[in-house]
Amino acid sequence: MQFEDVVRRRRMVRSFTGSPVPDATVRRLLATAVRAPTAGNTDGWAAVVLRGPGEIAPFWDATTTADWRERSRRWPGLSAAPLVLVVLANPDRYVDRYSEPDKAVSGLGRTGRSPAGATAAWPVPYWFVDAGHVVVSLLLAATDAGLGACFLGNFRGEAALLRALGVPAGWRYAGAVLAGEPGPGDHRSASLDRSPRTIDSVTHLGRW
Ligand SMILES: Cc1cc2nc3c(=O)[nH]c(=O)nc-3n(C[C@H](O)[C@H](O)[C@H](O)COP(=O)(O)O)c2cc1C
Repeated sequence: MQFEDVVRRRRMVRSFTGSPVPDATVRRLLATAVRAPTAGNTDGWAAVVLRGPGEIAPFWDATTTADWRERSRRWPGLSAAPLVLVVLANPDRYVDRYSEPDKAVSGLGRTGRSPAGATAAWPVPYWFVDAGHVVVSLLLAATDAGLGACFLGNFRGEAALLRALGVPAGWRYAGAVLAGEPGPGDHRSASLDRSPRTIDSVTHLGRW
C-alpha cells in the first residue's frame, strides 16, 4: 500500500472477528514500531503482546469494570480483538539518558532533580510523547497489513494491569493498541461528529 493510502485509510476500528493475527504479522507491526522516533534514542518504551483470549482476559479484567462491560455497546466488538499490544513507558530511563554527558546541558537528568522528583523537571514528558509515536506506528503498520486497529487510552486499572502482566516497577501504562480482522457492528465514535480539522484550521503561518 502507498504511504498516502495507509494514512487515509487508518481509522479507529473497534470491532473484530476474533480471527488470530499470524505471528509474522505481529512482528511486522513491532518492526515498524521500533523505528519510531524516541527522544535521545532512549530505550524508554516496551510492549506486552497479548495474543488470544487467555492472554487478553487479564487486560480487560484490569482496565474495565463488569458494569462497563455490561453497558458498553462496543464491548462485544472490542472483546473479540485477537491481539492487544500494551504500550508501556519508563520515565526513569529518560531521566537516566538525559543525565548522560551529551544531554546533561538539558537539566532534565538526575542533577536537575526538583523537590517533586526528577520527572517534574520535564516541561514535556517525552516518555508519553514517544509512546504516542509508537502507537501511531503500530496503527499505521496494522492498516498497511490489512488489519483494523484502535487505540484505547489509559482510563483506569493501571496498577492492576501492570501487576497482572508482571511488569517491573518504573513502567507506566500509556495505552493499548487492539488489532485484528475488522468485525461486524462497529459503532461510530461520537468524536467523529466534531468538525474535521483542515490544514487552515490548524495552521498559523509565520505567527499565531
Ligand atoms: C490519546 C488518545 C486516546 C484515545 N482513547 C480512546 C479510547 O480510550 N477509546 C476509543 O474508543 N478511542 C480512543 N481514541 C480514538 C479517538 O477517539 C479517535 O482517534 C478520533 O475520534 C479520530 O477518529 P479516527 O482515529 O478513526 O480518525 C483515542 C485517541 C487518542 C489519540
